[in-house]
Amino acid sequence: MTGPEAPARPGREVRSRYTTADLGVFTRDEASRFVPRGGGDPRSDVVLAWELLYRLEPELYDRLASVERLHPGVVDWLPRDVNRIAEVGAGTGRLTMELAERGRHVVAAEPALPLRRILRRKLAAAGHGNRVRVIHGFFDQLPLPADFADLVVACSAFTPSPEHGGEAGLAEMERVCRPGGCVAIIWPNHLGWLAARGYEYVTFPGAMSVEFGSYAEAVELAEIFYPKGADAVRRRGSSTVPFEVLGINPPRDLAYKVLAQ
Ligand SMILES: C[S@@+](CC[C@H](N)C(=O)[O-])C[C@H]1O[C@@H](n2cnc3c(N)ncnc32)[C@H](O)[C@@H]1O
Repeated sequence: MTGPEAPARPGREVRSRYTTADLGVFTRDEASRFVPRGGGDPRSDVVLAWELLYRLEPELYDRLASVERLHPGVVDWLPRDVNRIAEVGAGTGRLTMELAERGRHVVAAEPALPLRRILRRKLAAAGHGNRVRVIHGFFDQLPLPADFADLVVACSAFTPSPEHGGEAGLAEMERVCRPGGCVAIIWPNHLGWLAARGYEYVTFPGAMSVEFGSYAEAVELAEIFYPKGADAVRRRGSSTVPFEVLGINPPRDLAYKVLAQ
C-alpha cells in the first residue's frame, strides 16, 4: 500500500504488522478493554492486532470487508419495515448498508473513530446519511435507552470475551431491545455459548466465494488476512476464491433470540 495511512509496516500479515509502539493509538476506554493488563503485544495477540488495524489502516480493513460479502439469505432473514434498528460494532458498514432500508431509524454504534468516518462517508454517498445515525459505543456500554430497538444486531463483531461483548455485552444488547424484539448475532463464532443463553441458530446453504476486485488484489489481501491460504490463491490465478480455500467459515449463519413480551 502507499499513501498517508500506510506507514512502513514491519510485516505483511495482520499478526506481524504492528508493534507495542502502536498501542498509543487507543483511547483510554479502548485501551482498558483491548490492551491486556500489564501490556499487550500485537505480535503474539492477533485479536489486539485487529483492533490496531481498525485504527491504523481502516481503509485496508474496509477493502477486506467490502469483498467478504454476507450470504443473501442472512440479510433476507432479518426483519424488514421495523421502526428502530440498533447495530453494534458496525465497522465500515458491511451490514449497516443493508439495514438502512429496513428500519425507519437505524443507529450504528462503532468504537473505532476511523471506521465511523468511513461508514459515515459511505452512508452519505448512498443517500442514507439522514436515516442512519452513527455513534460511538461499546457492546458493554451502549448510549441508548432500554427497549429502544425492534432489532439489535451485530455482524462479525460479538464474541464471548468481555472486550468484544461477553456476558455484559449480550445483556446490554438485550436491554436495548424491546420486549418481543429480536437480538441477532451474525456470523457467530461460539454457537454453544450463545445456545446456552437461549439463542437459536440459522444457517443458509450454497457455495460462497470472496469476489476480489482482481487476481492481484486476491493475492495481496490473502497475504495480509489469510496467509495460510495465500499459496492456494496464487495457484488458482483467479479473483474469485471460495471461502474454504481461504480457510475461514463463510458468513452464512446467525444466532438469534426473540425477547419475551
Ligand atoms: C470484524 S469487524 C466487523 C465490522 C462490521 N460489523 C462488518 O461486518 O464488517 C469487528 C468490529 O467490532 C468492533 N468492536 C470491537 N470491540 C468492540 C466492542 N467492545 N464494542 C463494540 N464494537 C466492538 C470493531 O471496532 C470492528 O468494527
